[in-house]
Amino acid sequence: MMKIRIEITLCLLLFLVLAPFCICSGERLPVGMTLVRKATAHGAVCLDGSLPAYHLHRGFGAGSNNWILQFEGGGWCNDISSCLERAKTRRGSTRYMSKLEVFSGILSNNASLNPDFYNWNRVKLRYCDGASFSGDSKFDNGTSLLYFRGQRIWEAIIHDLLPKGLSRARKALLSGCSAGGLATFLHSHNFTKMLPSNASVKCLSDAGFFLDERDISLNYSMRSFYHDLVALQGIEQNLNPNCTRSTSNPKLCFFPQYALNYISTPYFILNSAYDVFQFHHSLVPPSPDLHGHWNRCKLDPAACSATRSVYCKV
Ligand SMILES: *[C@@H]1O[C@H](CO)[C@@H](O)[C@H](O)[C@H]1NC(C)=O
Ligand SMILES: *[C@@H]1O[C@H](CO)[C@@H](O)[C@H](O)[C@H]1NC(C)=O
Ligand SMILES: *[C@@H]1O[C@H](CO)[C@@H](O)[C@H](O)[C@H]1NC(C)=O
Ligand SMILES: *[C@@H]1O[C@H](CO)[C@@H](O)[C@H](O)[C@H]1NC(C)=O
Ligand SMILES: *[C@@H]1O[C@H](CO)[C@@H](O)[C@H](O)[C@H]1NC(C)=O
Ligand SMILES: *[C@@H]1O[C@H](CO)[C@@H](O)[C@H](O)[C@H]1NC(C)=O
Repeated sequence: MMKIRIEITLCLLLFLVLAPFCICSGERLPVGMTLVRKATAHGAVCLDGSLPAYHLHRGFGAGSNNWILQFEGGGWCNDISSCLERAKTRRGSTRYMSKLEVFSGILSNNASLNPDFYNWNRVKLRYCDGASFSGDSKFDNGTSLLYFRGQRIWEAIIHDLLPKGLSRARKALLSGCSAGGLATFLHSHNFTKMLPSNASVKCLSDAGFFLDERDISLNYSMRSFYHDLVALQGIEQNLNPNCTRSTSNPKLCFFPQYALNYISTPYFILNSAYDVFQFHHSLVPPSPDLHGHWNRCKLDPAACSATRSVYCKV
């Protein structure tokens, strides 16, 4: 049974694409990083070969058997040069990441700020593979080395959490924002299968519903971008086979709009009609707007003319 609720806010540009999704007040809750030491044995490493990591804050009381997992977001790298760059940053290596993360929003432990999940086990999965936790490949030409092991990282983290109580979960929510929101679609089935069959498992994607849509020059620029990403990082083998079997272009199953038909986990999809990322990168990327006709509209949606606002509908 599929339960989908899509919340759409038309043409607002207040979205939180690469940012944490709550502006919070109250006590700060810094949570230490856990490196997954067993991951190396399974080849589950970040772009640069460093160990993957997560942050866990334990649940308590009535929430002690409930789990919320949140995939960190932060774009993608879809060619060798951008992945080599990324491998030297906090987006591609745990070496450069903050070792303490402040848990806020739905990760907060404050009941008045986070009434639904404050006492659950709350986990943030750090993002260091550049492919929404879904690749399985490697680049090695003798002088440069890159690991594309997002799928293995996902599995290594889950296997680290299962004995910490996740295997006894009663309720579980797999969530994420942006590239992390996309990761929820790619892993909902696998997540459900790894939890007790009587557990209540749901997913929440925040600003992760990236559309396969034409840009203003009628090119499918996001499709090309994801095509390169899926090929580079060896993602196709990890996409839902029920989806990939159904189409002559299996790489398209990386897009939620195609993958969703084959997902049975209950889903809450939170997405603005056009968030900043999709407006600025998928629909009006810089290349087809060399003269900057869209600049004013991009900076201030209220300045978009009627002919342009045609892009502000679903
Ligand atoms: C929880 O958040 C509320 C609202 O911001 C704040 O007043 C309160 O001090 C916080 N409680 C704790 C224990 O941090
Ligand atoms: C390996 O790839 C990198 C990045 O593309 C390139 O700079 C380097 O010259 C390549 N090395 C060899 C031996 O081809
Ligand atoms: C699921 O089954 C186990 C084993 O029978 C039981 O201990 C647990 O309470 C059940 N969980 C739920 C959410 O009903
Ligand atoms: C999770 O995904 C991996 C890789 O596709 C697969 O090997 C594994 O069997 C899956 N686990 C479950 C429970 O579906
Ligand atoms: C694929 O479809 C079959 C039959 O409906 C189902 O049993 C299976 O769980 C599906 N697999 C995935 C990965 O969704
Ligand atoms: C649209 O795509 C075609 C084919 O890939 C390419 O030749 C053309 O330059 C693209 N147009 C723009 C404006 O990017």
